[in-house]
Amino acid sequence: MIKKCLFPVAGYGTRFLPATKAMPKEMMPIVNKPLVQYGVEEAARAGMNNIAFVTGRNKRAIEDHFDITYELEDQISGTSKEDYLISIRALIDQCTFSYTRQVSMKGLGDAILTGETLIGDSPFGVILADDLCESDDKGVMAQLLDVYEKYRCSVVAVEEVPMSEVHNYGVIAGDVGDDGLIFVNNMVEKPNKKDAPTNLAIIGRYVLTPDIFDILRNTAPGKGGEVQITDALLEQAKQGKVIACKFNGQRFDCGNVDGFVAATNYFYNKM
Ligand code: UTP
Repeated sequence: MIKKCLFPVAGYGTRFLPATKAMPKEMMPIVNKPLVQYGVEEAARAGMNNIAFVTGRNKRAIEDHFDITYELEDQISGTSKEDYLISIRALIDQCTFSYTRQVSMKGLGDAILTGETLIGDSPFGVILADDLCESDDKGVMAQLLDVYEKYRCSVVAVEEVPMSEVHNYGVIAGDVGDDGLIFVNNMVEKPNKKDAPTNLAIIGRYVLTPDIFDILRNTAPGKGGEVQITDALLEQAKQGKVIACKFNGQRFDCGNVDGFVAATNYFYNKM
């Protein structure tokens, strides 16, 4: 049973400036709940109660969110307003939270390698909180865990995107099995439309085996001068150790304004 889930939250969130100048992107609310809380709830629903954050400068608000706020809580104690805190209190009771810092933002691969100190030598989940996933039934991380339990290798969540958007994603190709899972044999980070092997894009949900850390240590900076997790996963894929899962549910890319607004409308209408 995988208990640890890593949240790389050190990025600058430049697409949301000036909102993210002093505030973490992951604390931006979808209606009344910060993005990162949706992600931690998904991890907890998958049985991952050890939450590990790779943070950076200006991210203190995330640590404060997953802690008691004595003065405020004392002030509203015994009033109906306490109900607003039910969801976050449940997470604080249920989970442990640990933190480490990425000193320079050298990419998602580097952020995950920075998390090694919190993860150790066991398989773990990774959630990028700015990809907000929603499903009626089982959460997306829980779906990936089911695949991991069966095959015991790294698992990535993928979705079909328009070819005009493949340049924003890591893109996979592979052989499709009977159960619809894809045994990955090729991966390209942010390809041009003409170089993309498929339109199957990796979204921000992974289960990784710990050998990824050694691979990342030896992975040179790739696209954009950043250490790319896609490049490290390609090394595992060459050994037949990566499966891609077309998940059930929907994903909102809250790292850009259109996706953020779509998620806000969706969750508002659900209230
Ligand atoms: P993104 O590229 O979507 O996030 O990285 P960003 O860099 O914060 O956003 P923009 O492009 O400037 O608007 C995907 C995820 O990886 C984390 C980010 O926090 C985000 O959750 N990340 C990225 C790190 O933790 N460290 C990095 O060096 C890069």
